Amino acid sequence: MTKYKIAILAGDGIGPEIMQEGVKVLKVIEARNDVEFDLVEAPFGAGAWFSHNSSFPEETKKLVGEADAVVKGPIGLNYEDSKKIPVDQQPERGALLPMRKQLNTYANYRPVYLPKSLAHFSPLKAEIVGEGIDILMVRELVGGLYFGQKESGVDENGKRYVREMLEYDEDQISAILHEGFKLAQGRKKVLHNIHKSNVLRSSVLWNEILEEVATEYPDVEVRHTLVDAAATALCLNPTQFDVMVMENMFGDILSDQGGGILGSLGLMPSACLGTDGKAYYEPSHGSAPDIAGQKIANPYSMIGSMAMMLEYSFGMVDEARNVWDAMQSVFAAGFSTSDLSKPGSGVTMLSTDEFGDKVVAHLLANA
Ligand code: IPM
Ligand code: MG
Repeated sequence: MTKYKIAILAGDGIGPEIMQEGVKVLKVIEARNDVEFDLVEAPFGAGAWFSHNSSFPEETKKLVGEADAVVKGPIGLNYEDSKKIPVDQQPERGALLPMRKQLNTYANYRPVYLPKSLAHFSPLKAEIVGEGIDILMVRELVGGLYFGQKESGVDENGKRYVREMLEYDEDQISAILHEGFKLAQGRKKVLHNIHKSNVLRSSVLWNEILEEVATEYPDVEVRHTLVDAAATALCLNPTQFDVMVMENMFGDILSDQGGGILGSLGLMPSACLGTDGKAYYEPSHGSAPDIAGQKIANPYSMIGSMAMMLEYSFGMVDEARNVWDAMQSVFAAGFSTSDLSKPGSGVTMLSTDEFGDKVVAHLLANA
């Protein structure tokens, strides 16, 4: 029996309710495999600030450092409530970015996936979605603008100013590019390199390193696309993309657009992979405080993040596939969650826990 210790950071807003559905799925997987999941909950996010006076308490740091994997719900409050927390302790800056640094999760996989059977959820026309959307966005996650030096103050003319650096060294760039190439090798052997080298020096270095790394992957075709053009292409011709690799902020923005072309950020799970087998898994979306507690949030992204954990942290590739299939079967059977469809559009709406229950039923039926 293999034992895995999993840190459960439920987070804020809809976090706890979608986490509960993810845990239901994990219990099914545990019961029918030779594994034991030791699930340990810990405070993290805005809630932790109010209860523990820290959005990333020491006990949580310790736990994520020793766990075999971490699953994390979305964090954060609405704009007004965020102001009740000191800027540096607001959970995005005070908890999430520090956890990424702690685990050195430099590689963020964000699948943008919509099989043809679910094409009705996309706001794009059927002829654009074609046989379905299947993109893997690979985002560098511990460098660039989000982690560069920051400075703000008042200049000699009495004007307030701010300075934020987009910093990378060549090892960081080559590490994420190797990820992109390897993933492309295992898929369609095409790598879309997303950059802005017509303006940014950081992209010039990025592309220089890409030329060097590419020599190790002669079987992969590289297609260069400027990030702004990529944004348009994602709407007009998303099926041209397979693996897309990009720096931190480009990936933050384009992956939200990815959720947009699927129909909802609720369909966006992610895996954040570090060095030495460290990893954590989280939905790409926020905590949606406006709908928290109503049991209408879509838990797909959370359950999908668990599926990615099964695959990447525990090597349980078949069970991961079963979880994806179960979720897609629920939707394909004519059900929806409220983020994906308007009432009266011919689908039957499911609450957060009804969706989780149906996924569990599908999993059990396909044991
Ligand atoms: C994401 C989120 C985070 C990011 C926020 C919450 C700091 O938007 O994971 O995409 O910007 O990376
Ligand atoms: Mg984001």
